[in-house]
Amino acid sequence: MEVYPEGRELVWRRSFPGLAEYVRRAREFVGFLLADLPDVDDVILVVSEFAANALRHTASAQPGGRFLLEVRRWRDGAAVALTDQGSHKVPTIPEPDDLCECGRGLQTVRALASEWHWTGDRGGRTFTATFIAHRTAVLVSAISPRELVGCDRRESAVLTPDTA
Ligand SMILES: Nc1ncnc2c1ncn2[C@@H]1O[C@H](COP(=O)(O)OP(=O)(O)O)[C@@H](O)[C@H]1O
Ligand SMILES: [Mg+2]
Repeated sequence: MEVYPEGRELVWRRSFPGLAEYVRRAREFVGFLLADLPDVDDVILVVSEFAANALRHTASAQPGGRFLLEVRRWRDGAAVALTDQGSHKVPTIPEPDDLCECGRGLQTVRALASEWHWTGDRGGRTFTATFIAHRTAVLVSAISPRELVGCDRRESAVLTPDTA
């Protein structure tokens, strides 16, 4: 498994034409870069929603339009940021409405990401979603409760992240 030293951050940026087929390319791009992230499927879905919104709601879909995807990776997480070319619409998360098929994209983002937000205005907006990897601890050794009796400050178990 790839190791990301503490305090180090890797950053990739790529610009895509504002055409539907490039939503898939954006998914592949992030899926490749974050393949070792436990939440990679969630990140891919969020990128899909951001990219779909750029094409559905913004000037990125106009002839010659583009959207920019930035991917950041550090030891315990990752973030994606997608920048579009702006819209008079304002991003909103509507209240859940069973009769409406629309308006699920940003709800999905909110449900999957550890944190998300957007910045910018009608001239261009950037949507950022952060994913914190929850490292699962794995018990690699232990002693029985009987052995613990009378044990003074002895390590009873060793917990390591499952990155070994
Ligand atoms: N990139 C964007 N720029 C401006 N407005 C946006 C953008 N993305 C979403 N919105 C607005 O927020 C609403 C909710 O987005 P979303 O939850 O993805 O639903 P949907 O795309 O199905 O309408 C959209 O209907 C649109 O009005
Ligand atoms: Mg949408």
